[in-house]
Amino acid sequence: MESLTISEWLQIELKQKRFPERMPAHRRVYEAIRSAIASQYLTPGARLPSTRSLAEDLGVSRNTLLAAFEQLHHEGYVVSRIGSGTRVATTLPDGFFEVEHRADNLGTQDIGRVSGLSQRGSAAAGRPDGPSYEVQPFTPGEDDYSAFPTQLWRRLLNRQWRDPNPAHLDYGHAGGHLPLRRAITNYLRMSRAVNLTVEQVLITSGTQQSIDLCARLLTDHGDRVWVENPCYWGARRVLEVNGLDLYPVAVDDEGMAPSNADFRQVPRMIYTTPSHQYPKGVVMGYGRRRLLLDYAASKEAWIMEDDYDSEFRFEGRPLSSLQGMDQNNRVLYLGTFSKAMYPGIKLGYLVVPPGLAEHFKRGLYELQRPGQIVIQAALAEFIEEGHFSTHIRRLRQIYADRRRLLQQALAPVTRYGARLPPAGSGLHLVVELPSHCDDVRVASLAAEQGLRVYPLSCYGVGEKREKGLIVGYAYAATERIAPYGRILAEVIQTVLSQ
Ligand SMILES: Cc1ncc(COP(=O)(O)O)c(C=O)c1O
Repeated sequence: MESLTISEWLQIELKQKRFPERMPAHRRVYEAIRSAIASQYLTPGARLPSTRSLAEDLGVSRNTLLAAFEQLHHEGYVVSRIGSGTRVATTLPDGFFEVEHRADNLGTQDIGRVSGLSQRGSAAAGRPDGPSYEVQPFTPGEDDYSAFPTQLWRRLLNRQWRDPNPAHLDYGHAGGHLPLRRAITNYLRMSRAVNLTVEQVLITSGTQQSIDLCARLLTDHGDRVWVENPCYWGARRVLEVNGLDLYPVAVDDEGMAPSNADFRQVPRMIYTTPSHQYPKGVVMGYGRRRLLLDYAASKEAWIMEDDYDSEFRFEGRPLSSLQGMDQNNRVLYLGTFSKAMYPGIKLGYLVVPPGLAEHFKRGLYELQRPGQIVIQAALAEFIEEGHFSTHIRRLRQIYADRRRLLQQALAPVTRYGARLPPAGSGLHLVVELPSHCDDVRVASLAAEQGLRVYPLSCYGVGEKREKGLIVGYAYAATERIAPYGRILAEVIQTVLSQ
């Protein structure tokens, strides 16, 4: 094997690998090259043959090869530089060598205590199957990283490092860098009608940390927390690890829909995603918002409003935040830069009622040690100089096009009993499947075609689990959405017509 050229190795791989019949040629070539990297036949830094000669050797068109290279490039497996061709990246995407095509591994199933771990540790890290970190077309929660203005961002970071203020190298104990807190205050006032002063804003390392801080500072072990059913698993995990009693509340076409029986199960805290319910995508109506706010005020319960992707509303007027309607200081408003910038920036914000601001700053410092002030300073300039709005406008257009193309490609599945609820915002859509359908199996079949979608049932809390697929459209290139969407539609149709 050692003496084979890479072309020969790939030819054998393409012949031996049992690719699904409908898998497009560029996808097969992509998979073969990825295997060469995974098996270390191609080592980091290794140079790939030119697209022209490789296309000839493999007997495929140059366009097919270019599409495969583009995908590898987009996902970080290879890098191209003018004059030195295409090489295997020296840093491969995280989790690459642990890839498994499992679709049911969100790890939301309840587990008991794991030997050696504490109860809390078991809830956090005891699951046998951690999530697979491999990103494929349609992986929910991924952004279009290629659209990020890297050079501009590098310039802003360099500006901070040229003559760093010593205070920026410390943890910082004021709840974050003041100019960033100011920039966020202005942004939230203007675009989300959040009612706030800069003193109420804390910079955190994202929603996960914001939820953890709220749980630790506002609840005690065993307290009841209402969560939406289905629910964002990231939030669910943090709440469980904090020893809270999760009480699932159904979601209807107007968002979280507590029944009279639910109202009797008084919570200490409510976690909700009113602007775009995760994962179902519905928007909470005005009446429901009022009801929730009045109920929380009457029971002195806290509401955590997770407004994770409201920047990406494509249709209709944006609804203002729940926080902006609250007259009783019961709402904690959570935002993130994971979607509008990139997840690894690890920056988000938490707006707390005025009476809690100082306690939260102290709690953040004592429990989690903040920091990253240099990046916060660069981000403040990114927002203040108008780049943030420009970037969001650009992404919004890209994602709106991708969503439209995906909806068109998936439309035929509605003839087989699936439902495609209208989705006017966000980075994913949901295909609702009939209750008898095994959505985990559909997701596994899609994975065999190189597409990664999540089964809706894995987001269910308790007994009641709806069936469906969560399909992210932000990551795959626009011209690939329709062909991939058609493959997914065929997978769904095949299962539904059995
Ligand atoms: C509902 C919801 N909230 C928040 C986030 C982002 O969280 P973080 O800021 O921790 O990256 C996500 C990411 O997918 C999400 O789906």
